[in-house]
Amino acid sequence: MSLSYQRLGINIDHVATVRNARGGQHPDPVAAALLAEKAGADGITAHLREDRRHIQDDDARRLMAALKTPLNLEMAAIGEMVDIAIGLKPHACCLVPEKRSERTTEGGLDVAGDLARISSVSARLKAAGIRVSLFIEPDPKQVDAAGKAGAPVIELHTGTYAEAGGGEGPELERLRAAAKLAGELGLECHAGHGLTYANVKPVAAIPNIAELNIGHFLMGEALFVGLEASIKEMRRLMDEARG
Ligand code: PXP
Repeated sequence: MSLSYQRLGINIDHVATVRNARGGQHPDPVAAALLAEKAGADGITAHLREDRRHIQDDDARRLMAALKTPLNLEMAAIGEMVDIAIGLKPHACCLVPEKRSERTTEGGLDVAGDLARISSVSARLKAAGIRVSLFIEPDPKQVDAAGKAGAPVIELHTGTYAEAGGGEGPELERLRAAAKLAGELGLECHAGHGLTYANVKPVAAIPNIAELNIGHFLMGEALFVGLEASIKEMRRLMDEARG
C-alpha cells in the first residue's frame, strides 16, 4: 500500500549565507527559491534570524511577492519577529528556539516549559491568519504541549536522528511515536533538520509525516549537481520511501 504524497519544503537559508559572506546581491536566495519551485518544491522555508545571518527582511518581502508556493517563515517566538510576520502574512510561521552563539538550530522549542508564552505568540499569529508550526523534539511531553498551545502543526526535529547515523534505532522510534501521537491529537506533523539522501527514507516512510523541510544538504549537493538535480533526487527518494 502506498502512503499519501509527502510535501517537500526547500530551505534556502544557505543561499543567503553564501551571498552574505560577501555582502552583495549574489547568489540571490529568491532566485534559488524560484528554481526550487521549478524543480518540484511544494513550499519554501526561510529563517529570519534575530542576527539576520541568513535571509534579510528584504528577502522575506521579495519571497512573499515572487513565490507561487507557500512560504514557511521560521523565526524565534519574540515580539519583533511576530510583528514582522504579521506584516508579511506568510502562509506559515514555524517557531524555533534561537541562540545567538549556535551554528544552527539546536534542539526543539521547549513548549512544555514555556506554554503560556508560546500559546500567546501562537494566538497572535493565528489571529493574523498565519498557520503556526512548532519545531519540537520528538518527545511526547512536547507534542502534548504543542496541542495545548493551540498550534495546528508541529515540526519534529530530526537532528538527533541524523547525528545518530540515521536508519533504524531508538531515534527513529522516537520520531515514529511522536508522529503517531501528533495524529491522535489532531496535529499536522512535519519533520526536518539534518536530512540527507542517506538518512531521509526511514523518516519519509513515517505515514503521518505530511511534510519534510530540507536545506543545508541540498544546497551543498547543488554545488556538484545543480539545485534542480539535487531537489529532484530528494523528491525521488521520498516517493520511493512512500511506495
Ligand atoms: N526545519 C527547521 C525548523 C530548521 O530550523 C531547519 C534548519 O534551519 C530545517 C528544517 C532544515 O534543516 P537542514 O538545513 O539541516 O536541512
